[in-house]
This record gives sequence, C-alpha cells and structure tokens, in this order.
Amino acid sequence: MTSPESRESGKIHILSNATINKIAAGEVIERPASVVKELVENSLDAEATSIKVEITSDNNGIAKIRISDDGYGMDADSALISFSRHATSKISKISDLYEISTMGFRGEALASIAAVSKVTMITKQRTLEPSPGTKIVIEGGDVVEQSPVSAPDGTSIFVEKLFFNTPVRKKFLKSVKTEFTHIFRVVEEASLANSGISFQLLHNGKVSLSTGKSGSVLDTITYVYGTEYAKEMIPVKSLQTFMKVDGFCAPPSLDAPNSRKIIISVNNRPVYSLPLVQAVKRAYGTLLPRERYPVCFLNIRIDRKVVDVNVHPAKKEVRFSREKEITEEIVASVREALDSRNLLFSYGAGNKNIIRKVSVVDDTSQKPLFCVSSEDPVYNPYSGRTNKIKENRSDHSLAEYSTTDSRLRSSADAAESEEDDRKLPYMKVIGQVDDSYIVTQMRGSDEDEMVIIDQHAAHERIMYEMVCEKRNSGHISQELLVPSVIPFKPSESAALSENLQLLEEEGFFLEEFGKDTYALRAVPVILGKKAGTETLRDIVNDLLEGGRAQSLDILKEKISSTIACKAAIKAGTSLSVEQMERLVDQLSRTKNPYSCPHGRPTMISFSKSRLDSMFKRS
Ligand SMILES: Nc1ncnc2c1ncn2[C@@H]1O[C@H](COP(=O)(O)OP(=O)(O)OP(=O)(O)O)[C@@H](O)[C@H]1O
Ligand SMILES: [Mg+2]
Repeated sequence: MTSPESRESGKIHILSNATINKIAAGEVIERPASVVKELVENSLDAEATSIKVEITSDNNGIAKIRISDDGYGMDADSALISFSRHATSKISKISDLYEISTMGFRGEALASIAAVSKVTMITKQRTLEPSPGTKIVIEGGDVVEQSPVSAPDGTSIFVEKLFFNTPVRKKFLKSVKTEFTHIFRVVEEASLANSGISFQLLHNGKVSLSTGKSGSVLDTITYVYGTEYAKEMIPVKSLQTFMKVDGFCAPPSLDAPNSRKIIISVNNRPVYSLPLVQAVKRAYGTLLPRERYPVCFLNIRIDRKVVDVNVHPAKKEVRFSREKEITEEIVASVREALDSRNLLFSYGAGNKNIIRKVSVVDDTSQKPLFCVSSEDPVYNPYSGRTNKIKENRSDHSLAEYSTTDSRLRSSADAAESEEDDRKLPYMKVIGQVDDSYIVTQMRGSDEDEMVIIDQHAAHERIMYEMVCEKRNSGHISQELLVPSVIPFKPSESAALSENLQLLEEEGFFLEEFGKDTYALRAVPVILGKKAGTETLRDIVNDLLEGGRAQSLDILKEKISSTIACKAAIKAGTSLSVEQMERLVDQLSRTKNPYSCPHGRPTMISFSKSRLDSMFKRS
C-alpha cells in the first residue's frame, strides 16, 4: 500500500501535521543553541528578571537543556495551546508585524522544539490568589502527560532527546565544545542586550557565565569577561533624533581574529547585520590590520518601524529601512569614542585574549612580546643623557644619511606646520636599537613611560596621512622629465586599464604605449621616479590580489598605504638623534599616531610601574 506522503502516488496532497511541524522545526531549530535562543527569548518576553540555562552533556553530545525563568508564566489552558503551531500571545493582526516589540511573534518556537524532542514544561502564572502550576510532557509533538503541580511563579522548560526523530539533523551536530560555544554565544549576547536581567549558564553543573541585574552594560562586560577587560573598555554614546547608540568598544590592542566579538543589539534584540558589523570595522579603520577585528558591544535604540525582524526563519538577521544613516551614525560614534582616548599600546595589553577566555580553558603562560636587552652598558633610559644605544653602523654613509634626511623632510612640511597640534605628550629621544627602534621617554600625567617606536611604522603613518591630505588638496603629482616605459603581463595590464582614473587620483599618470605597455608620465610627489616605478608594480599586485570584489575605499586605502610604505624610512636605517627627534615630533602631530596604515602598532609603552614590576621592585 502506498502511503499518502509517498512520491509514488503521483498526486498532490496535504502533508500531515507531524511532517509539517518537522519541516518547520528544521528551519527554526538548527542545533541545541537554537533551543536555548528560543527559550531565552520566551523568558525575556515573559518579563523574567532571572533566567537560568542548564546544559548537560555526555559523550554523545548535548543531552539535556533546561531553561527556568521567574516570568509571568501561563495558566493550564495557555500552557497546552502554547505548543500548537502559530499559537502566540504576542501579535494578533498583520499591522503588529510592522512594529514588533517582543522577541517572539511567529508562534512557532515551542511547536518546533516539541516536534523534534521530548519537552517537559512546568509553568505557573503569577497570580494574587494561590493557584496550582501545570506540568505538560510532549514527545515528538504528542502530549503524553498534563497534570497540575505545585511550582514557583514562572516557567521551566526541560528539553531532552533533541532530534531523536530527525536522525540526519542529529548527525550534523558538532562536538560538545562547538555546540556549547554556540550556546555560550546566545547567552552572552542576550545578557549584553539585557543588562537589567540576571543570566546564569551552567554546563554539567559548573557555572560558565553569571551576570547581575544592575542595568549597566559595563557590569555585564565585567561579569562575562572579567574586570581586567572591562577596565579597558571605552564608552560609546550618541543621541540623534532617530536613534541612540550606547555601548563600549575596546582599544585596538584588544582585537580579535574574527568579527564575533562585535555584538550589536537593536532595541534589546541581539542581531546579526553585516552592514552594522562592517560599520564598526570601518570606524577602527587603520587602527587595526585588515585581517583583525575590533571588540565592540553596542546597544541601539531606534524607532521599531525602521527595523524589519521578519526576514529570516530563525530571526537571525534584521534589515533596516534607513541603513545608510544608521551605519554612518555607528561609524561616527565609535570613531568619536576612539578619538577621545590615548590608544597607546601598553606592554602586556594584547595578552588579554577575550576569545580564549570564554571558550577554552588554556593555561599557556603569557609569552612576553619581546625582551629589552640588558646587555648594553650604555642603556640607561632614565639617565637624562641622550645616548645611542647602539653605535651607528660604520657603513652609515653620507648617501644613506641624506636619503633619510630627504625622506624625513618630505613629510616635514605637512607635519610640522602648525603649532600645538600634538596628539602625544613630549617624548625625549634616548637612542636607537638595531637601527630600527627608537627608545624614548614620554612625560605621562602620573608617571613617565618608556616608549619604543618602530621607526618604519611611525614614518609610514606620517606619510600615509600626508598622502591622504595631499590627495584631498589635489597637489600630489610630479611630472617626470622623461616618462618611464613599463611593460606589464596581460593580467596586470588589464587591472591597470580598469583603474587608470583611480591611479590618477593618487598621483600616477599613465598612458597606454602599445600592447600591455604603459608610459608612466607622473608619480606622486613624495616618491620620485625610481620609487614611483617600483611602487606602481606593488600597487598593480594590490589590484590583482583582491580581485574585482574590492571596494573603491579599500583600494584607495591600500594604494595610499603602499605609497606611504615605499616613501617611509626603512627598518635597518641608522638615524641621527636630530633625525629621530624630527620623526618623533612628526608622529606626535598625526591624527592617529598609534598605528601604521596597516594597523600595526607604531609605539609600545612601558609605564614606570610596569618596569618596576618587571624588575620585581613592587
Ligand atoms: N517562558 C514563558 N513564559 C510565559 N509564556 C510563555 C513562555 N514561553 C512561551 N510562552 C507563551 O507561549 C507562546 C508560544 O511561544 P513560542 O515561542 O512558540 O511563540 P512566540 O514566542 O509567540 O513566537 P516565536 O515563534 O517567534 O518565538 C508565547 O506567545 C507565550 O504566550
Ligand atoms: Mg518564542
């Protein structure tokens, strides 16, 4: 006999409810973390003030999930109906969809969870009169028990045998560690978005995350990541007529390998929105290497009509009708926050690894970033004398000296023109290490600091800002007396021909000169003919590297940083004291003296107290 749902029947028919529910569940409940997300959202909608998530795992994976809240609970009738598909107390008409104020609105989650697991719900409505609670047990969508029980106000939902009747989905689950990391992220996001509610996450009885309900995001950051981390956070605040941004961003020294620590919530809903994540990354600009990501927690309040949460079956993504204004506001507010702070990399700061802290217990001891040589008898940063730590190389020729001098001079006009525009306090040059690092003493507000400057990175920053400024003022190009005729490979010449206009804006004037050959007629002023030709080759590589997918802004930034890199003095160049002083002065007048255009630090500071503790004086 052919079943009504088999393909052989060849007839169109309506699927059974059990099958419909399983299909729907497949969209809503992807993994254990989806169960946690849905149930936590229900607890939030029930106005809970405490939410407890308990996870039990064994060798076969995540075995049990229990979520308990002290929310308003349900009476016996509502408890039963809550497991039906499209049963919701949160919206009642289509227009409600355009202004959703609750986490849930589809009436799908409980039905979906119950369709693919065994669920035991105990719930009791908050009532003035004493009333019993209700216990309901549902397995694979069928009610197997319903009875009155005595219970505290609120709801507790216990989920076991997840995906017992959908073996394929079960097979795709990852290790306990991976699945728990997803669960952690759900609770982490929910707690950051709702700092007035206390969250607890336990794994096999051990507390993995626990927050209070003070209402302060900084307190939640402290609970989740620790005091050390919270101490570094920079407040982000902005208030516009259409939106309010509130949150914290980390200095670039506390960066992350991926964008997972950019956590954004909109009207208390943790959301994933690529444009918003990109906006935060954009705000950090060259403060971070392109492959590193900021750590940033933002809560956005915005008119509900502007947000569409009904675009993804698991409500993971949201869309905004005023996306451009919103992203611009995020860029501006995060930038303002970063600008307000001294972002000097302090020795040891990069060791606070937020990602490692929350996901894996790793006892690897902190590795020092580098060691200061104590062998050199001349080394005495606090002597007040200006010494060369290492003698100038004997082959430090006049030619090298004058090349360096002219490079430093080329950046001087822009950097040294205005008075009192220094972003950094005065730094006294002590000497140079390995012809690459400049050792200085910086006057701090509380105590002095030893600051080590990477001379190439520092000069790159100076040159980069100059290149950007000159581009805006249009004075960037220097015509060559005799044009250089340069042959290219066909792929290179194709990339060039597509970007001639862009290169012109950066100061390179090129004309086609036969097949795959170009005549270079002008180069950026700061490069000169030889460096100009070499730099053009590097830029062509940049163009080819990212393919056509690169945005114009990224291309411009890449080209400007390649020009800056070529024009900057190199590591391994011996500098005179006067040259070092000039470089330090120019650096302190840049808009962002803390990182090179590739996002690496230009300076690393050792506070006096840090030095004292390294020498075991305190
Ligand atoms: N923890 C809870 N406390 C009180 N009521 C709850 C709780 N969980 C669920 N409910 C009730 O059960 C209903 C169904 O929940 P369910 O999660 O299935 O749908 P929803 O939250 O309305 O929408 P969505 O499918 O988008 O989550 C809710 O509308 C709510 O009235
Ligand atoms: Mg729900």
